[in-house]
Amino acid sequence: MNYFIAANWKMNKTIQETRDFLKSFIPMTGGITGVDIIVAPAFTALLAASDEMKGSAVQLSAQDMFWEEKGAYTGEVAPGMLLDVGCSHVIIGHSERRQYFHEDDAVVNRKIRAAHKAGLGVIFCVGESLDERESSRTFEIIKREVEQGMVDVDPYNLVVAYEPIWAIGTGKTATVEQAQEVHSFIRKTLRDIYGNKADAIRILYGGSVTPENVDSLMACNDVNGALVGGASLKSESFYKIVSFKKEN
Ligand code: PGA
Repeated sequence: MNYFIAANWKMNKTIQETRDFLKSFIPMTGGITGVDIIVAPAFTALLAASDEMKGSAVQLSAQDMFWEEKGAYTGEVAPGMLLDVGCSHVIIGHSERRQYFHEDDAVVNRKIRAAHKAGLGVIFCVGESLDERESSRTFEIIKREVEQGMVDVDPYNLVVAYEPIWAIGTGKTATVEQAQEVHSFIRKTLRDIYGNKADAIRILYGGSVTPENVDSLMACNDVNGALVGGASLKSESFYKIVSFKKEN
């Protein structure tokens, strides 16, 4: 099973900045094996990114989408539009969407099902807040988010990203033990739903991943990749992350 490492650029980079990043980053990745590399730029830069990625192994993801196929939904982007621009994946349920745009588990589930129906791969995000962790509710929240997100969803063409909200953009990474503990809990929750098929679902860690901590995080049993925000904005830094040192 390849590792899966995705850059989530959030609301950063113009079209030109996107092109410049990919012109420098893509040639660096030629020798990398065993890692699926995905970049998720802003909507406005997807077409330029798709153009730069042609002929390379780097894949394109959007950061969100709406569930309807078309119609009167001002400001929204449909799954088919993402395919049209060259996306193979879409991030769904990121904590910033849940927190600032009030997306709940039902919305997240609807989006996942619509993405799958269109043939898009899904990067499905879950994670607890600091309050929830401090009140010992981490497992309860993760279980709810995973179970509700996965209602009527096939366990294919999907990765789950565990992103503790307190670790996102804060420079505070979960310790290797904290990450492994939640990842193995997610694995168990997925097995309860899908049986053995759950073992093919890659579980990514996200939250202040850097070139310095990536080796030890990727060495955890149930950590199969990373979702990287801040440290993915510079090509050298993201290259260091996707070329992390594999054990054995
Ligand atoms: P960060 O963001 O790497 O800047 O913490 C990760 C994410 O939100 O996907």
